[in-house]
Amino acid sequence: MSEQLPLTNEKPLKPVNARILGIETSCDETAAAVVENGRQILSSVVASQIDLHAKFGGVFPEVASRQHIRSIYVVIEQTLTQAHLGLGDIDAVAVTRGPGLAGSLVVGMNTAKGLALGRNLPLIGVNHLEGHIYSAWAVPEETKQLPELPKFPLMALLVSGGHTELNLMTDHLTYKRLGGTTDDAAGEAFDKVARLLSLPYPGGPSIQKVSVIGDPKAFTFPRARLEGTWDFSFSGIKTAVLRVVRKLEEDNQPLPIEDLAASFQAAVVDILFSKTMDAARKYQVREIVVAGGVSANKALRETFQNQSEFKIHIPPLSLCTDNAVMIAAAGYFHFIRGDRSALDMDVLPNWPLS
Ligand code: KG4
Ligand code: ZN
Repeated sequence: MSEQLPLTNEKPLKPVNARILGIETSCDETAAAVVENGRQILSSVVASQIDLHAKFGGVFPEVASRQHIRSIYVVIEQTLTQAHLGLGDIDAVAVTRGPGLAGSLVVGMNTAKGLALGRNLPLIGVNHLEGHIYSAWAVPEETKQLPELPKFPLMALLVSGGHTELNLMTDHLTYKRLGGTTDDAAGEAFDKVARLLSLPYPGGPSIQKVSVIGDPKAFTFPRARLEGTWDFSFSGIKTAVLRVVRKLEEDNQPLPIEDLAASFQAAVVDILFSKTMDAARKYQVREIVVAGGVSANKALRETFQNQSEFKIHIPPLSLCTDNAVMIAAAGYFHFIRGDRSALDMDVLPNWPLS
């Protein structure tokens, strides 16, 4: 076992050496990982279903759950093999309980229960959003210089395909939700605008790719500020892009896809960045965590990394989109707190974080 790491500088939970097997099947990735002491990644396997869903332009729930059933055992076997471990070396099983697609969550949940029951291992149900935040704690095994641990209090911006919210964390596993999207999630807006521009699913990476040669100032899309709240709104930008596209099509003009994508991306980044910075100032935190699929966005990462007012923690690209490392990492902190889930735990497709 590797050296134990300090967990927080404020109120340390008692660290315990533990290897957690994480299982994630909330949407369209079948994933399993082994993480030691909440930080060191011993292995991580993600079987993506993107190719299966691309032809539908989004995730097809029935197809997703059936594919999870096909992949889950192979993915778990691969992750144990990669870590050179057997189930006897695992101290607990952490599994995504929600939020997500019910039929997909059930596959990971039943598998985790089977392993917990069969091997007499503690079972820990983890919130997927909490997992995204805890991806900021995880570091690949080969990393020589461990990155600094996030310190509390911190502001967590969670930006994924299904969620966009700001949470104040004053300690481990403690969330005060300040606000969230009133309509589309940021990732959802990327996916919908990509579809409008006939770019392939998933929309975020497609928009980022074409934006490289686009002018982010070509179009000025609205930045809904929703003053006096910590909420976000992205449907106005999406509608503004739609209006421009319709007008250009009516006028038989070619679509400047790169400029439209770059201008849309700039508006989303601007909204996410400015509100998060305001919240961080208001709540006097020193550090910010940005996590979830949209945190893979280069423009968003650079915008946060180019300021010096707050220390920024953004997970490596491989941990931004859905994976099981994040579930094992969050599961570890529950494990050392003594949290255990019952074997009759059910999935919670709409489980809020706080
Ligand atoms: O966290 P995630 O993998 O799944 C959910 O929990 O929803 O996030 C997926 C979302 C998708 O909407 C996808 O378009 C977006 O993250 N995304 C990105 C990028 N990579 C993934 N959005 C913007 N830029 C990216 N590079
Ligand atoms: Zn996710």
